[in-house]
Amino acid sequence: MVELVKIMNFYLTTPIYYSNDAPHLGHLSTTIFADIIVRYHRLIGDNTLFLTGVDEHGEKIALTAEKAGKDPQTFVDEMAIRWQKYWKSLNVQNDIFMRTSDPRHKKIAQELLVKIKEKGDIYQGVYKGMYCTGCEEFKSERELVNGTCPEHRPDQISYREETNYFFKLSKYTPLVKKMLEDGQIDLIPAGKKKEILSRLNDDITDLSVSREKVSWGITLPWDKSQTIYVWVEALMNYYSATKIYDKESFWPASVHFLGKGNNWFHSVIWPALLLSCELPLPKRIFVHGYYNVEGVKMSKSLGNVISPDDLVGKFGVDGTRYLMCASEPYFEDFSVSKKWFDEVYNNDLANGLGNLVSRVSKMASELNISHKSDNDFNAVLEKYLDIKKGFEEYNLLSVVEKVRELITATNEKLNKDEPWKLKGKEKEKSLKQAIDKILEISLILTPVMPATAKNIMDAFCREKITATKPLFVRLVS
Ligand code: MSP
Repeated sequence: MVELVKIMNFYLTTPIYYSNDAPHLGHLSTTIFADIIVRYHRLIGDNTLFLTGVDEHGEKIALTAEKAGKDPQTFVDEMAIRWQKYWKSLNVQNDIFMRTSDPRHKKIAQELLVKIKEKGDIYQGVYKGMYCTGCEEFKSERELVNGTCPEHRPDQISYREETNYFFKLSKYTPLVKKMLEDGQIDLIPAGKKKEILSRLNDDITDLSVSREKVSWGITLPWDKSQTIYVWVEALMNYYSATKIYDKESFWPASVHFLGKGNNWFHSVIWPALLLSCELPLPKRIFVHGYYNVEGVKMSKSLGNVISPDDLVGKFGVDGTRYLMCASEPYFEDFSVSKKWFDEVYNNDLANGLGNLVSRVSKMASELNISHKSDNDFNAVLEKYLDIKKGFEEYNLLSVVEKVRELITATNEKLNKDEPWKLKGKEKEKSLKQAIDKILEISLILTPVMPATAKNIMDAFCREKITATKPLFVRLVS
């Protein structure tokens, strides 16, 4: 009998980032993290769809374009090329690069808004309160620290009063709360779920879904004097993309990846909008912490950004990808510094993996060893179930730790065997054992460092092994 293997659809999204500037390390961390998880799913045989993109409307973008002396459309067109090139240069394999100024997205967002209105979930009202252009978000008094947004510069917040349309968020929050509690929407990790559930115990104010004075946006279909609030149409991109790119079977998304500042929008507002539209809800929402630079949040407006270009220039693409993985802010925020990156690179890559590969390939090249490996990614994962669990649960730090252990154990075994003192079959046996371990390590690292993993496999799985060039050049301070 032919065994039928069910191929799973796996649709992962990153946030669509504001394209008012080039990507910073926070964007890089989420996107590389996401790329690693999608590559993992591709390797285990899932049918994957990976979306990233840019959020192109709203006040922040319009103001930046104006400062640059460009009309907003020209500005976002140029930025979109820059962001796309950027992800390519980092070997990010997204299937969709979503842009909210895409006319096809505009049409779908308008249709969804009409659906919500027809459901009776929209009413007109007056908004009075503070608005932060950095977050593109109305802020309640409770969210402010000393009257200002804790995430952005004080000049980005101001008092607003405008007539706009509201969505009956409060009608849906009891159901959203229940779905979060019973896991129908799987919000992870648990700490981030707790924060949302506790906020859902407070009084919920309805959400303003249109803006009266922001012209750079999608026109509200029934009132041409207003545009759709940028966050509302941005969230809709995850769904509109599946229609635009003919991938409807991928909805609902398997998982939305995002940083903690975007949690409320994805875990409460987005499900509520979808419930109003009677569309299926995302299965999982994964919220990671923030990168800090020596304890302070990294952000464009705070001006403490470690540039991704500096990292790639110094550590290469795969080195940078590995460092993103090793500093993954999974549960808590993660504090990094230039020194921290240098140290991890030297310890794990130059001295660790790189040194092991050169040492073994050099000794193997002195013998006439040929090697073949029967292992594949899935076979190795079955052997190292804790690594599989790490990938499945997005805990890449645990994968890195396991790889460190494997490298150390392989080095220790070599030091014990001392193949350089052995001869003939004995020497060959010791080296072949080390090569097998190196090949397992490179298979595990395939989603993280695809080019390096391939180089290592090419170097060892051949008729005659030759000494490799150093994979990672050690940094000297
Ligand atoms: N445009 C909205 C998202 C709309 S999604 C429908 C937005 N854009 S953003 O450019 O500000 O990017 C926010 C995302 O960037 C976070 O969710 C997170 O993925 C990433 N990060 C931004 N700063 C970060 C850190 N300091 N650390 C880690 N990731 C962070 O909000």
